[in-house]
Amino acid sequence: MNKTAVITGASKGIGKALAEKMLGKNYTVIGTSRSGKIQIKHPNFHSLALDLTDFSSIEKAQIEINNNFEHINVLINNAALGSDLHFDLPERQSFEQTFDTNVKGTVFFTEAMVNRIPNDGIILNISSKMGSVEVCEKFGSVAYRMSKSALNMYTKILKNRLAGKVKVACIHPGWVKTTIIESNLKNATLTPEESAEKIFSFLMSDFKNGIYWDCEEGVALPW
Ligand SMILES: NC(=O)c1ccc[n+]([C@@H]2O[C@H](COP(=O)([O-])OP(=O)(O)OC[C@H]3O[C@@H](n4cnc5c(N)ncnc54)[C@H](OP(=O)(O)O)[C@@H]3O)[C@@H](O)[C@H]2O)c1
Repeated sequence: MNKTAVITGASKGIGKALAEKMLGKNYTVIGTSRSGKIQIKHPNFHSLALDLTDFSSIEKAQIEINNNFEHINVLINNAALGSDLHFDLPERQSFEQTFDTNVKGTVFFTEAMVNRIPNDGIILNISSKMGSVEVCEKFGSVAYRMSKSALNMYTKILKNRLAGKVKVACIHPGWVKTTIIESNLKNATLTPEESAEKIFSFLMSDFKNGIYWDCEEGVALPW
């Protein structure tokens, strides 16, 4: 039987490329976006509306998944905002949006899914090397950096809680040409498809439980 993956934020960028990659590898993929409208046509693809900033949307998505899918083998927490990637200083609205999506929504959606993940399942949190406390030498993008550090901590917490059952990791997907920030389309080094390829190889590898991994360089990152 096909394995089932849930990928949040599958409407564009890395999440969409990863959904397409995993469909090509015979996964059944449930891809989410706020509207639920995702331009992927494949018999094993199921799109779902999910707004991580809205608890009732998380509950609805949970019911929909529970009613239609027996289990989730892989949960990929990919959806995120980078609305303060341009900013040097914390700014209230983007700070709230970023934490509501990248931290609060991601944690509570994961909690809604965790009982559906069988033994030998995987939770992959798409973090960023911008979340590394140890290598931080800049001062901008405060909310984005802090949100990814928080996601890294949640990864460790899940690893401790689910040890022996579900494997967990947080990864840097590389510097990828997406619209998370407009300048990435010109400056970034990887296409979404190249990033998806590297993420999928990591997923298939015998990775160390709880690791923080740079998929672009193929090395563990310092926390
Ligand atoms: N691009 C890079 O260079 C880079 C580097 C390091 C880490 N990352 C990480 O990689 C992941 C994917 O980034 P990307 O560059 O592919 O970004 P992207 O192209 O902007 O895609 C973001 C996805 O998140 C979804 N999303 C946004 N807000 C949401 C919300 N409130 N609820 C649910 N879904 C929401 C979007 O869907 P809708 O707008 O359709 O709802 C979209 O599908 C993120 O976690 C990002 O932090 C990216």
